[in-house]
Amino acid sequence: MINQTILEVLNNQINKELYSAYLYTSMQAYCANQSLCGIANWLKVQAREEISHAQKIYDYIIESGNKVKLEQISKPESEWNNVVELFEKALIHEEFVTQSINTISEIAEREQDRATQIFMQWFIMEQVEEENSIRKILERLKLSSDMIYQADAELSLRKE
Ligand code: FEO
Repeated sequence: MINQTILEVLNNQINKELYSAYLYTSMQAYCANQSLCGIANWLKVQAREEISHAQKIYDYIIESGNKVKLEQISKPESEWNNVVELFEKALIHEEFVTQSINTISEIAEREQDRATQIFMQWFIMEQVEEENSIRKILERLKLSSDMIYQADAELSLRKE
């Protein structure tokens, strides 16, 4: 049984993961409207990954005999000046999520909740990967406008 403090932060994290999916879906629409269909595809896959992150926490709460509490999801941004700014915002968002994941892990440690500590390890490593992949795309996009079209072609290959 996980305690009330842990349950609350885990339920909050479901909301953050679902918001992430919503944000990436909004970014996907922006890119599709700019005819950057490959980047839009990458963001679509990313949005689905975020839903799977939310589902993972949802399953953990249920399996530990607790209640999932879903809250309202905030409206995401829908306009960016360009795709570089969009990925800058995506990176800032992932850094925020990383901080949130780390905080849950710290709380689990403080509350001596071994199961949640182990459960959060997967998310800690996932955040390393997520930040890294967004940072790499951003660095490439910043190089030149040609890179945007090259990246668009490559990112069209991302599959679930
Ligand atoms: Fe599920 Fe991108 O954090």
